[in-house]
Amino acid sequence: MKGIIFNLAEEVVSDAHGADAWDDLLDASGVDGVYTSLGNYPDDDLHRLIKAGAESFELPPYDVLRSIGTGAMPLLAERYPEFFEPHTSARSFTLTVNDIIHPEVRKLYPGADVPEFDFDETDPDDLVVTYHSARRLCGLAEGFIEGAAAHYGERAVLRQERCMHRGDECCVIHCVFSPA
Ligand code: HEM
Repeated sequence: MKGIIFNLAEEVVSDAHGADAWDDLLDASGVDGVYTSLGNYPDDDLHRLIKAGAESFELPPYDVLRSIGTGAMPLLAERYPEFFEPHTSARSFTLTVNDIIHPEVRKLYPGADVPEFDFDETDPDDLVVTYHSARRLCGLAEGFIEGAAAHYGERAVLRQERCMHRGDECCVIHCVFSPA
């Protein structure tokens, strides 16, 4: 996993709970804790940090990951406005992740291992996003989608019809966006 993801997690946790909270998570999870944005680090570090966060904030790990995704979006929008500016809605933004955003991410962060989504656009009011990745970070994907909705002044109601954490082969996320 690229260091940028750890850097974003640090910023989100520190903004919400103070810089000491991040140091506490590093201590509790026993990870090295020095992450440069372009470096590559074990996926296990992220899983350990999420587990430590879940214990410390008394939340399910899924909620911790989701808040990191939601909190990271405004930071990404500030850093990479070019991905956000062509859109006026989270639906059209999300639909560019496979063809525009993540391919650019692979150029910016060589060696990045980004997921590929399947989109079912049949229902204009319900975007169906299918996610597969050995990392099983559907909470992060949901947080990113919710954060994108907030960016465009929308509310996202997400429902996971299938989830790898419940033994399914992939996660299937229904996304209904409405004005906030
Ligand atoms: C709705 C939009 C997006 C979704 C749903 C999404 C989803 C994800 C997920 C779930 C991962 C975790 C890797 C995995 O599952 O194997 C990931 C990785 C990543 N994404 Fe996205 N993403 C979105 C937009 C963005 C944007 C706007 C950026 C930044 C410009 C970005 C940059 C990255 C980076 C740097 C990684 C790490 C890759 C690695 O560590 O090798 N993503 N994304």
